[in-house]
Amino acid sequence: MNNVKLSDIKVLIDEESIQKRIKEIANELNTIYKEEEVCVICVLKGAVMFATDLVRNLTMPLTMEFIRLSSYGSSTVSSGKVNAVEIKLPDLNNKNVIIIEDIVDTGLTAKFLLDFIAANFHTKSTKFVTLLDKKISRKTDIEPDYYCFDIDDKFVVGYGLDYNDLFRNLRFIGYADKSLLG
Ligand code: IMP
Repeated sequence: MNNVKLSDIKVLIDEESIQKRIKEIANELNTIYKEEEVCVICVLKGAVMFATDLVRNLTMPLTMEFIRLSSYGSSTVSSGKVNAVEIKLPDLNNKNVIIIEDIVDTGLTAKFLLDFIAANFHTKSTKFVTLLDKKISRKTDIEPDYYCFDIDDKFVVGYGLDYNDLFRNLRFIGYADKSLLG
């Protein structure tokens, strides 16, 4: 049951701060890759807002792929098992790959994806970029190459992130009191 209302959500990171930080990360990536082509892989659904804003600030030639993984279902705690809901990728051999995620929490999703890419392709380079890094929940030794913000032990929503598939459309990243979350 969804008992969280929009009015229960407090702002953690506002729209202006998100957009400012995305430009900083994009500038770093632009400096690294220069004119080299990259393939950007957006992990649906949560990373969609971040990925589309990030790529609009990237200047190298790039292609975009979208894959869908899930580990949460309708809970606020990772099930500990990653499901590949849809993972169809082109030939990434010899390509520069940038994986774009919404949040690295336990790190299981990131590990699953990095292992999948390493097992199937010899990429030229693979980088993992995430909007949020929740280091406190980590259960793997995965560290993103870039993150926009690190956050403490809160379940966050907005700007692509959901609770029961809701609140992805918020322009900011927010949180509700734990007592309201099922
Ligand atoms: P991990 O595999 O535990 O690192 O979790 C990664 C996925 O869990 C993310 O891509 C999100 O979809 C989801 N997730 C983790 N923490 C949160 C949160 O605070 N709010 C919303 N979704 C989350």
